[in-house]
Amino acid sequence: MNPDGIIDRNSSRLARRESIVFVAIVAATAAFIALVYTLAPIIERARLVERYRGPQSQWPALATPDGLYIEALAPLPARPDFPVDNPFSEAKASLGKRLFFDPRLSGSNQIACASCHDPSLGWADGRHKAVGHDRQLGDLNTPTVLNAGFKDRLFWDGRAADLETQVIASWSNPIEMAGIPEDAARQLGEVAGYGPLFTDAYGDPSITAARIARAIATFMRTLNTPNTRFDRFMRGEHAIFTAAEIRGLDLFRGKANCIRCHHGALLSDGDFHHLGTSVHGVGDYLGRYRETGAPEDVGAFATPGLRNIGRTAPYMHNGFGDGIDLESLLALYNMGWWQNAPPTEKVSDVPLARLSPLIEPLGLSRAELDDLAAFLRTLDGNSLYMPQPDLP
Ligand code: HEC
Ligand code: HEC
Repeated sequence: MNPDGIIDRNSSRLARRESIVFVAIVAATAAFIALVYTLAPIIERARLVERYRGPQSQWPALATPDGLYIEALAPLPARPDFPVDNPFSEAKASLGKRLFFDPRLSGSNQIACASCHDPSLGWADGRHKAVGHDRQLGDLNTPTVLNAGFKDRLFWDGRAADLETQVIASWSNPIEMAGIPEDAARQLGEVAGYGPLFTDAYGDPSITAARIARAIATFMRTLNTPNTRFDRFMRGEHAIFTAAEIRGLDLFRGKANCIRCHHGALLSDGDFHHLGTSVHGVGDYLGRYRETGAPEDVGAFATPGLRNIGRTAPYMHNGFGDGIDLESLLALYNMGWWQNAPPTEKVSDVPLARLSPLIEPLGLSRAELDDLAAFLRTLDGNSLYMPQPDLP
């Protein structure tokens, strides 16, 4: 026997055992690392959700471009402020409600405010573009009137500063109601039941266009949705958001950049931007430019508030696209919209529209887009369904 051989055999057995132990350790370490890698994002996400269940001061900081003012997200007050020259009264709001539903205001006696701002269609009309007097098709999508009393500038180009001005404008617009306010006021004076309602609201039965406008404006200031799930969450009911909704809120404030333009209690900056929704020479392609004449305002439209968007499709100033639902709209945001294709022929002296510098491709995954949509749906209010009131 060769003693060396025995030693050889023993040591090689030992070496084999050592290498098995080594492989086992490596495998266990690899498995552990893999587990940590899989769990870390899950733990991270759970921690993020927990942070959002705390006060807003503990939420992750916003990373927005320098100098951009961002108003904190907030619950909506129950009602907007009423102007000093048109204070709230129950009688005026109730008169305004009747007038809002009364087609006798219109030139044809057939179109009421409620024809286009229909309570059962989210107080909009469910159409791409509004159809008004004589079935004329307008260029613009009908916005909801819900929460409109909180806005500082009304209409897609912001040309009305208050609801009183807006009412007269919509009422006399030849492609909407085509009403002649003074004539309609005189005509309503002949309807027996209205006199006492004006007396309740204003102290005497005189019916004027301005009184009609003030009553309708008062009624609209009562049409608010301050109790959405979003509002309840923001008022401290932190348990009512699902984890997906909270992740969506985080994306809204962060990676998806929505907060750059949609912020505050209305989720609107009250400003105007061009996203690439209009095309030079087609429909209303001027937007805010018509009011300001500033080149950066060509094709810029008012940032809509996002409350009740689950109910107010089609979207955007022109109700653009066929079947563009909320999910498709998010897909467009995800790709960063597009610059207006230069027209083959410029049809006017109006400068070409420029995409807002605040719009960029987002790189959101399918799952992230779903989370974002889940968050946006928390902004839908209780249905403010209202049956047509009896008219005098
Ligand atoms: C034919 C359909 C139609 C009728 C009738 C109509 N509207 Fe509108 N409404 C629209 C459209 C379209 C717009 C957007 C117009 C624009 O931006 O220039 C609008 C805008 C508004 C806005 C501004 C909302 C915002 O967010 O800027 C309010 C408020 C409003 N209408 C209330 C009324 C009232 C009150 C009446 C009745 C006096 C009325 N509308 C009649 C279609 C209609
Ligand atoms: C640069 C500012 C800006 C940013 C950033 C922005 N939006 Fe908008 N948003 C607008 C403007 C302006 C409109 C209206 C455009 C139009 O009518 O042509 C709009 C319209 C919308 C509408 C349609 C509302 C309606 O009633 O028609 C939705 C929904 C919306 N935005 C959601 C989002 C979401 C979600 C994000 C983040 C992914 C986002 N927005 C980011 C400015 C912005």
